[in-house]
Amino acid sequence: MKPAPKTFHVKSFGCQMNVYDGERMAELMTAQGLTATTDAGEADLVVLNTCHIREKATDKVYSDIGRLRKGGRSPMIAVAGCVAQAEGEEIVARAKVDVVVGPQAYHNLPELVAKAAAGAPALDTDMPLASKFGHLPARRRVGPSAFLTVQEGCDKFCTYCVVPYTRGAEISRPFDAIVDEARALVDAGAREITLLGQNVNAWSDDARGLHDLIRAIDRIPGLARIRYTTSHPNDMTQGLIDAHGDVESLMPYLHLPVQSGSTGILKAMNRSHGRDDYLRLLDRVRAVRPDIALSGDFIVGFPGESERDFADTLSLVDAVGYAQAFSFKYSPRPGTPAATMADEVPAAIMDERLQRLQAALGRDQQAFNRASVGRTCTILVERPGKLPGQMLGKSPWLQSVHVIGPHAIGDLVEVELTAAGPVSLTGVARVSQAA
Ligand code: 5AD
Ligand code: SF4
Repeated sequence: MKPAPKTFHVKSFGCQMNVYDGERMAELMTAQGLTATTDAGEADLVVLNTCHIREKATDKVYSDIGRLRKGGRSPMIAVAGCVAQAEGEEIVARAKVDVVVGPQAYHNLPELVAKAAAGAPALDTDMPLASKFGHLPARRRVGPSAFLTVQEGCDKFCTYCVVPYTRGAEISRPFDAIVDEARALVDAGAREITLLGQNVNAWSDDARGLHDLIRAIDRIPGLARIRYTTSHPNDMTQGLIDAHGDVESLMPYLHLPVQSGSTGILKAMNRSHGRDDYLRLLDRVRAVRPDIALSGDFIVGFPGESERDFADTLSLVDAVGYAQAFSFKYSPRPGTPAATMADEVPAAIMDERLQRLQAALGRDQQAFNRASVGRTCTILVERPGKLPGQMLGKSPWLQSVHVIGPHAIGDLVEVELTAAGPVSLTGVARVSQAA
């Protein structure tokens, strides 16, 4: 038996959807009368909101559990998120944690904590048809840039990916529920909303697509900016492309993972599009929004990837000129089709390819930032910078911009971009508009 916890700490790993889920779990525990702590080492209950996407991400859970128990402490530990979904009871057996709760069941966290306090390990990895969203407390206080999950899960079954197993089938939240939550977020302080989904551009409700949702949210007074992530190339409809041309609050930034520049590898990954399809799609997006910043995800060392396949990835990177990108070494995930594929790429070759790819992507990111110098744009101030009087905001192209001046968090400040570093820019304020 452990006493019922009075304080809690939620630690989220992985993607932005986990950040969103972590916030909602914190709101749920606060509504139960528990107090949040900033230090996990002081909390009676620690929720580890985990990621299963690569082996390294998964390993973090077990090292974190060890750390939490150092010095004889024994807080109640709840493992949530995608590792909870994938490993279930195994975690209880291996690490003797108190609660295991999957990403579709966390609305039951208070009951599970109560059960664990009564002495029994509590597990819920159900994926009920009724949505968890109806059981969560209303949003009360958020920062200027907020996340809003509109779609979860995936039916695409890329051969390397665990998401269809951990997050389940593609499911869209209803239009009205999303618009209501967006309004609540704006009332709670948000000036920017990022719509989230594992395949966010596959969102639909009856005949409505993501562009209809964006146009509805655009009409909410007080909301200045809309973003969405992550998209699949095959769900990039003309309606959504058009929205980039005429919805002013929709920021000129598109995260559109391609994973590889080789059509053969894309086929083995079951991506259902080739290299040229992707490049043609980007041409169509750039035709309506020439200044759009493009971002992507890449995997190097997928089984069977030859030097020639990898050269195709490098040449695609050259052709696109990404403003930002994320790149990973392939990590075989148990239960996925690729995990049993032949022709594994040796670790040393993977390392070397990742270095070459990251050098190319870093070069392009710097070039993009340098090309922004001289532009005037609006930044959304998100937090204080490191220097006295300095604040940090985001440009429309999602670049971090430092600015000096009496600005408050949530202000939209017009700046001239005057200098570019490798990962951030400097801006000089022109006119300030209070939040
Ligand atoms: N190995 C390496 N990277 C992966 N990703 C997804 N699954 C794997 C895997 N098994 C990457 C993809 C995806 C991003 C979220 O993580 O690039 O877009
Ligand atoms: Fe990680 Fe994917 Fe789960 Fe997000 S949905 S936490 S990226 S495994």
